[in-house]
Amino acid sequence: MKIYLRTYGCQMNERDSENIAAEFAERGHDIVSDDAVADIIVVNTCSVREQAEQKAIGKLGHVLARRNARRASLPIIGVTGCMAQNRGGQLMRTLPGIDFILGARKTHMVPEIALKMYARRLGGMCHPKPPRLLRDDPESADTYLDISDDLQSHRYINRHLLADTSQTCAYISIMQGCQMNCSYCIVPKTRGIQRSRPPEEILEEAAKLVDSGTKEITLLGQVANAYGRDIGLGGDAFVGLLRSLDKLDGLERIRFTSPHPSFFTPQLTGAYAELRTLCEYVHLPLQSGSDRILKLMRRPYTASKFLEIVSRLREAKPNISISTDIIVGYPGERDEDFECTKEIFEKSGFDMAYIFKYSPRKGTLSAELPDDVPDSVKEGRNAELLDLLAKQSMEYNLRLVDTEQEILVESCAKRNPDAIMGRTRTHRKVFFKSSKNLAELRGKLIGVKIKSATVAALEGYFYDPEPRL
Ligand code: SAH
Ligand code: SF4
Ligand code: F3S
Repeated sequence: MKIYLRTYGCQMNERDSENIAAEFAERGHDIVSDDAVADIIVVNTCSVREQAEQKAIGKLGHVLARRNARRASLPIIGVTGCMAQNRGGQLMRTLPGIDFILGARKTHMVPEIALKMYARRLGGMCHPKPPRLLRDDPESADTYLDISDDLQSHRYINRHLLADTSQTCAYISIMQGCQMNCSYCIVPKTRGIQRSRPPEEILEEAAKLVDSGTKEITLLGQVANAYGRDIGLGGDAFVGLLRSLDKLDGLERIRFTSPHPSFFTPQLTGAYAELRTLCEYVHLPLQSGSDRILKLMRRPYTASKFLEIVSRLREAKPNISISTDIIVGYPGERDEDFECTKEIFEKSGFDMAYIFKYSPRKGTLSAELPDDVPDSVKEGRNAELLDLLAKQSMEYNLRLVDTEQEILVESCAKRNPDAIMGRTRTHRKVFFKSSKNLAELRGKLIGVKIKSATVAALEGYFYDPEPRL
């Protein structure tokens, strides 16, 4: 059977989709890239901003309309992920053709339910009717304390190892959920409170990945550096986890996303100087440079505390690349607040950033406040930060021209199959041509001499004829 899977949202969703794909593959089905030929279509959704929801709704509208035009009952069309949790009931009413909706913590049920529905459609009415809508009760605080769904999801752990292609770079989920309750954010509602996985399990998963050829691991958690606090492992549990992973023979690089500034301890900044595998790259969300707005956002740190972390990081690794998330146009954000954001943005020297226009999410604290910054002002602030970012990224990249960089070879360039793409430890993309083909180089660490830079990437030539691994 042919399965089409479309993913919106963050790396957690990508990781969940990997699990879904691996389970379908294990049962002998093919994952296809064209939804027009699929027997089963699954859309894994995100609710973090209105735009993310609209994209998924647009996609679902499109596949439903095509099925209607053919007057067919196949393919089976299902939705999972955060919007399925957050707005599942509403989706069922507005797009009644959707066959099933499974909340963010029920993604492990997608293959089973989709395949049962498919069998019934083909005439196997003897199969019991699977549920159409399953999600956690959004009103019940207790729901998320029930960890049986997490245990079920953990059944999937290492599923991706069953696929025959080894992954040079792999994600490992170290926790589920978040309990920070930033005023604007829907994630705690869609994913529940923080639940960390036991360290032994994470280490076992990492060791298996490394055995199968993985060189780089990205640890995933909504507040990755608060890892372990919920299971009584204490404030240093995250650094402890990094230390244990660092000892894995054959593992070359570790990244993680996202840390919260409030838990960025001196031990963690110190780890950058100490650990061989910890890459000189950190995604550290600032959200706003104004203390007044940070307080309203319920982000319990100040701009000066943030700058202190940045300076400790640069002390540990002078060439570290620092990226961030910023929200512009939070309710009540004045010109002077935005000026503070620009100032901290420059002082932090971010060379990468994701800038978002504030989008009220029903059910969050700030959705009760008037969304009073006009869209044109949000747009203007967004554009100003993008200009600043382009300037800072360009400066950062230009400094690398004429240097030799160690890159980990990942894939072909998307737009140019003749060019090969790898990343520096600082997460910069480097494109280069080589007489060797991708199969020979994938997963290898090689030295590349950088010859030119753009805002987004570097171009180099293959400096070291013999890969080092
Ligand atoms: N757990 C991560 C990120 C979660 S969501 C963290 O705490 O950093 C990714 C980003 O989306 C956030 O960092 C924030 O910048 C943005 N975001 C979240 N809710 C938003 C909203 N309502 N409007 C606009 N951007 C939002
Ligand atoms: Fe959302 Fe804040 Fe949790 Fe990040 S830390 S997921 S922004 S509530
Ligand atoms: Fe979106 Fe859910 Fe991730 S809301 S950002 S997919 S946790």
